[in-house]
Order: sequence, then C-alpha cells, then structure tokens
Amino acid sequence: MKLVLGMAGASGSIYAARFIKQLLVLPGETHLIVSPASIRIFREEYETNVQTPHDIIDFITNKWKLDPIHKIHYKKFLDIGADIASGSNTWDATLIIPCSMKTIATINAGITENLIERCADVTLKERRRLILVPRETPYNSIHLRNMLSLDSAGAILLPASPGFYQMPKTLDDLADFIAGRAFQLLGIETELFPKWRPGESE
Ligand SMILES: Cc1cc2nc3c(=O)[nH]c(=O)nc-3n(C[C@H](O)[C@H](O)[C@H](O)COP(=O)(O)O)c2cc1C
Repeated sequence: MKLVLGMAGASGSIYAARFIKQLLVLPGETHLIVSPASIRIFREEYETNVQTPHDIIDFITNKWKLDPIHKIHYKKFLDIGADIASGSNTWDATLIIPCSMKTIATINAGITENLIERCADVTLKERRRLILVPRETPYNSIHLRNMLSLDSAGAILLPASPGFYQMPKTLDDLADFIAGRAFQLLGIETELFPKWRPGESE
C-alpha cells in the first residue's frame, strides 16, 4: 500500500492518531503532509508540545510503544513541487483525516495552494481513491454543497461520526471506529472495531 496521508486543521486529532498508530505497524509506505493548523490542534488536543510532523509520529510511537515497520516520507506542506504533486507518480489512495471545511472548500474549488490540496486534486483527476474525513458541527449550506460536489467528483466522504453500537468504552474505541472504516475503504482489514453481529446485544 502506497498512501498519501494529509492531516488538515479540524478538531479530531485522535482520528489521525489512531489511524497512524495502526498504519505504523503495517507494511507499506506513506507520504505524510500536515498543515500548520493541524499541528496546532494536535498540540492542544493531546496537551503535547509537537512542532513538526516528525514530532507527531514520534509522539504516537512513544504513546503506544510501537515498533514501526511502515515507511513514512515527510513532505513539506507548501512544497507544491514535491514528487507527489504530479500525477506521473503513482500512489494507491489519498486520505485526509481529519479534514477541515477550509480544505473541503479549496479541494472542491480546484484550488491547490498547498500539497494536501494539490494531492487531493491529482488523486481526483487520476481517478484514484480520495477519502475525506470532515469534521464540523453544525454544517452550513456551503459545507453541505461542497461535500455533495466532492462526492459527485468521486471523493468518498467519511464523516467523523463514530457509531455507538459496538459499545465503545473509551475515546480511543470511538476513534478506532473511524480509523477502521478508513482502512476498510483502503481495502485493508483491521481489528480496530468489532463487526456488527445482529442479536449479540439482546
Ligand atoms: C482549536 C481549533 C479547532 C478547529 N476545529 C475545526 C473543525 O473542527 N473543523 C473545521 O472545519 N475547522 C476547524 N478549525 C479551523 C481551521 O483550523 C482553519 O479553518 C484552518 O484555516 C484550516 O486550514 P487547513 O485546512 O489548511 O489546515 C479549528 C481551528 C482551531 C484553532
């Protein structure tokens, strides 16, 4: 699996953290792009002092005592000349988790001023899989129109709306529901949440 992973500045760092926790122990390689707003929010939500994407990966590795085998390529947010800025380089899918309404809007408008936006745009034009994990509440009609338009363009909208029917005990359980669904959409089965079995809770 060759992935482009973007973290944009929406609340919900935990969704990215739990996705990356699982990703790091899987084979494959990922190009990681983190927006400045996302780093700032990660700092606040995890009460940590991360300053760079590298710090975020180290934080996740240490927090969950991981032994990573996954190769992470750290990409600069504003490097629109990076290898992955071009469709001539192939990767399987792009995931933006979490995804702000600003990044939803710019992708929908075809604006590609940073590498997250550019990769999303390339992913759509090359007809590869683009998975967006938007988080905002409530939505206004601009958000809704942008998301509908992105769905029509081929993106998959996976809202940060975890289910409760697996009886989550912790916030990590809740976030794993979304991380696990993202892996499913990438074609990777994980044990991140139990599959629904009718009748088990009766
Ligand atoms: C603490 C904090 C939480 C935020 N939460 C959200 C959010 O949940 N959804 C959202 O769309 N924007 C949220 N924002 C605003 C975005 O970070 C802002 O629009 C930013 O410009 C997004 O840029 P980016 O998508 O390039 O990271 C938040 C900002 C801060 C400081």
